[in-house]
Amino acid sequence: MPVDTILYNTKICIHGNIVDAGIAIDNGKIVKIAKKTNLPSASRKMDLKGNITLPGLIDSHVHLRDQQLAYKETFITGTSAAAAGGVTLVIDMPNNKPVTMDSLSLKERIKLAENQSLINVAFNSAFPNKLEEMPEIIKVGAIGFKVYLLNKIGGIEIDDDVSLLVAFREAAKSGVPVAVHAEDWMLIENQKKQLQTLGQNNTEAYVAAHSPEAEAKSIKRVIQLAKKSGVHVHFCHISSELGLNAVLLAKKACLPVTCEVTPHNLLLSSKHYKNSGFFALTDPPIRTQNHTSALWNALKTGLVDIIASDHAPHTLDEKQTNSVWEAKPGVPGLETTLPLLLTQVNKGRLSLAELVKVTSEEPARIFNLPNRGCLAEQNWADLVVVDLKREYKIDSASFFSKAKYSPFDGLHAKGRPIKTFVNGQLVMNEGKIVTKSGIGQVVLNAFDSN
Ligand code: DOR
Ligand code: ZN
Ligand code: ZN
Repeated sequence: MPVDTILYNTKICIHGNIVDAGIAIDNGKIVKIAKKTNLPSASRKMDLKGNITLPGLIDSHVHLRDQQLAYKETFITGTSAAAAGGVTLVIDMPNNKPVTMDSLSLKERIKLAENQSLINVAFNSAFPNKLEEMPEIIKVGAIGFKVYLLNKIGGIEIDDDVSLLVAFREAAKSGVPVAVHAEDWMLIENQKKQLQTLGQNNTEAYVAAHSPEAEAKSIKRVIQLAKKSGVHVHFCHISSELGLNAVLLAKKACLPVTCEVTPHNLLLSSKHYKNSGFFALTDPPIRTQNHTSALWNALKTGLVDIIASDHAPHTLDEKQTNSVWEAKPGVPGLETTLPLLLTQVNKGRLSLAELVKVTSEEPARIFNLPNRGCLAEQNWADLVVVDLKREYKIDSASFFSKAKYSPFDGLHAKGRPIKTFVNGQLVMNEGKIVTKSGIGQVVLNAFDSN
């Protein structure tokens, strides 16, 4: 019996080496990786013209919005953006309207994602009002929980360490990770009030309020809870040297912690506010070059586990306000992560093997996503074909995301995803979406039978 598809005349990255290979796909899965002559016969054959095939990106930090926030992004626009950017699975964040924080709200999002997504989607839930409901949320399929320590999102008061510990212990019992936005709200509020009293409302003031101290203090607090509960804590978007140092201490103590950085924190610094203004405003913020260098160093030494986009789309009106305190923080990142990182590969700052590790392999491992995250027989055929030589200018006007702005606008990128396959189906070809929505799978936690 011929298989569904073979991809030939491609190269793959194995143990740090780029080698010629072909890939046979059947029923959505990779069934063979071999030289063309050793591949089975197939109904469809695609010549990849010598370009490199990587595992599709797994972006562990994405705000797909939709529902009452559909004016910012929908499952269709967000997952189209993902496909265009070579991302084949995203983990959705719970700060939605309604907040994803119980089995009902989660089921609602799962239903929408099943009908509309073009790529695979997994879900984080906020903690529920009644912590006894956590097992039910996991049963419905959340792959983990997300807690936001700046504003209350979900059922736990942000200062309530007692409840947080109960929640962390419950997550540990179920074997799911807790992702954390670590910033000490009190430090930030106090600093913000002082700056506001002085009439300061620019990006410098925002960066001063969202200080490295606030990040590190919150990380240290959460590490104590991780220690007591044994839960796997994943720190989102580390942005400062102090924050990294706090994570390093926990890792040295062999606590089960991991962390991520964003492309904007790695590649931009305070000087970019001059041109991009509030379009570069994120939380935590882009900081000085010293922090950027520390993040790179931590990425290269393996202290940083994952690169995730923190795709956080807003409308132009929400970004273009007079006061920094009114502007919504967040940038769309799904369509820029891979081109930006391939550009770094071309510059020699990152190897392809490092890229694959932090954008596919580690996210799959940390968030328990079996049969995904690397090119291997029996794994799902979630793939991105990249042309490492393709040069182009980043232009947010062409984004599939509803958020048509980017602090990377105008940047000259070298290296671009040209084809994205999701569960064996070609979803993006040469920048065009070529499938109907709904072909993506909802990926439930590994306790599910799928
Ligand atoms: O920049 C951010 N945007 N940081 C967050 O923590 C929230 C996010 C959003 O949802 O817009
Ligand atoms: Zn966050
Ligand atoms: Zn976020």
